[in-house]
Amino acid sequence: MTNFSEITPDILTYAKLCESSGAIDPELYTTYDVKRGLRDINGQGVLAGLTEISEIDAFKIVDGKKVPCEGKLFYRGINVEDIVKGFLKDDRFGFEEVTYLLLFGQLPDRQQLADFSERLGGYRSLPTSFVRDIILKAPSPDMMNTLARSILTLYAYDDRADDISIPNVLRQCLQLISLVPILSVYGYQAYSHYHDGNSLFIHVPQQNLSTAESILQLLRPDSKYTKLEARILDLALILHMEHGGGNNSTFTNHVVTSSGTDTYSAMAASLGSLKGPRHGGANIKVVRMFEDMKQVVKDWKDEDEVSAYLSALLNKEAFDHAGLIYGMGHAVYSLSDPRANILKAFVEKLSKEKGREDEYQLYAAVARLAPEVIAKERRIYKGVSANVDFYSGFVYSMLDLPTELFTPIFAVGRMVGWSAHRIEELVNNGKIIRPAYRAVHETVPYLPIDER
Ligand SMILES: CC(C)(COP(=O)(O)OP(=O)(O)OC[C@H]1O[C@@H](n2cnc3c(N)ncnc32)[C@H](O)[C@@H]1OP(=O)(O)O)[C@@H](O)C(=O)NCCC(=O)NCCS
Repeated sequence: MTNFSEITPDILTYAKLCESSGAIDPELYTTYDVKRGLRDINGQGVLAGLTEISEIDAFKIVDGKKVPCEGKLFYRGINVEDIVKGFLKDDRFGFEEVTYLLLFGQLPDRQQLADFSERLGGYRSLPTSFVRDIILKAPSPDMMNTLARSILTLYAYDDRADDISIPNVLRQCLQLISLVPILSVYGYQAYSHYHDGNSLFIHVPQQNLSTAESILQLLRPDSKYTKLEARILDLALILHMEHGGGNNSTFTNHVVTSSGTDTYSAMAASLGSLKGPRHGGANIKVVRMFEDMKQVVKDWKDEDEVSAYLSALLNKEAFDHAGLIYGMGHAVYSLSDPRANILKAFVEKLSKEKGREDEYQLYAAVARLAPEVIAKERRIYKGVSANVDFYSGFVYSMLDLPTELFTPIFAVGRMVGWSAHRIEELVNNGKIIRPAYRAVHETVPYLPIDER
């Protein structure tokens, strides 16, 4: 019996066959006008559906031509900047209010908000023995994996798991919106205990807290947090909630939902997508990249030295040798990502409070310099700027959130968007999603085994 993770020599030989038989001539994508990544050269996605949930503006039409513009994001038609200003001005947490807006298409009045918050808080409870039987058994080093497994397991506890009527799917979605924070934190606590030998903290969730407060209450050994910490986490969750039907994990949800499958399967599939470093997993990469940069760059204020490090990243000579500057660029946005701009203002404030201004200055320098460096080394059609993950990882590190929870925190927010889109797909009774792939291999005869 080989070691479970071992790559044996025969596997290496088979893998070479996969690579050689799987390689497609890049020219053919142009020949057949394939929109790779389902996008054109300007980043404009192939139109695959209609939605009323959110809208992203990254281009405007000037003299009949599409030109990149400052990015804007609208939830149910309302500019996210105005939504954020609205609840901050009234000194309110926004998670529950914005969840209501995204799911039901309208802002709640005071009573509706109170009732809805109570409903979400009431769902903050796992089935009996779930923590002991599922979460504390075989903890994974990756909390996104823990989350996906936990959600798939909840199927077995649900008597109506396969019922895709709207009331039942809504009930499941609301429960998952309330449970994902708990599953993430408990999964982390189990891992931290069994893997790193830390004390095990399984705090009982409080129903009367906002989602952001609940995360901090469950995570911190003493359950304590400051108001500013909870407010900033609340803001980060809201900025990650929703980003159109085409982002990788939400589109995955549409694809999987369109087959008629259950809510747990659809959400687990979206989690698998979000885990990837080119999607939600980027926020961990950003923080690790900065850890490396802080070691390598001697003078953080020397822009030439910072630029040289960024060039080394692009040339696969630094950090993870992937050739990427994490936290920069976006499939749709070009000149700016509004979520990054909103977060940036708070990051500056928080970095002063936490005595990490030097680091903030380094982040600001990279945000300024990276687009120039990328433009020099790559073919840029629509512009590159800092994306939401550029600042979110730094925010989470200032909130003392463990790196393992960075992507799950994204998932806590995006679970709302996935829920809204799953319900929109079901309400509109869409066709099963089934795009085309053109075969570019010629037909060949089957060879009897003795003639090969
Ligand atoms: C998000 C991302 C995948 C979008 O890529 P894209 O859709 O190809 O973006 P663009 O069309 O603007 O890219 C133009 C070129 O610049 C490159 N580029 C864009 N952002 C880059 C980055 N951060 N680092 C290195 N190269 C980058 C692209 O690879 C592409 O080059 P290519 O044509 O040689 O492949 C890409 O920007 C990226 O990998 N960023 C880093 C990871 C990250 O932060 N992801 C989180 C997104 S919210």
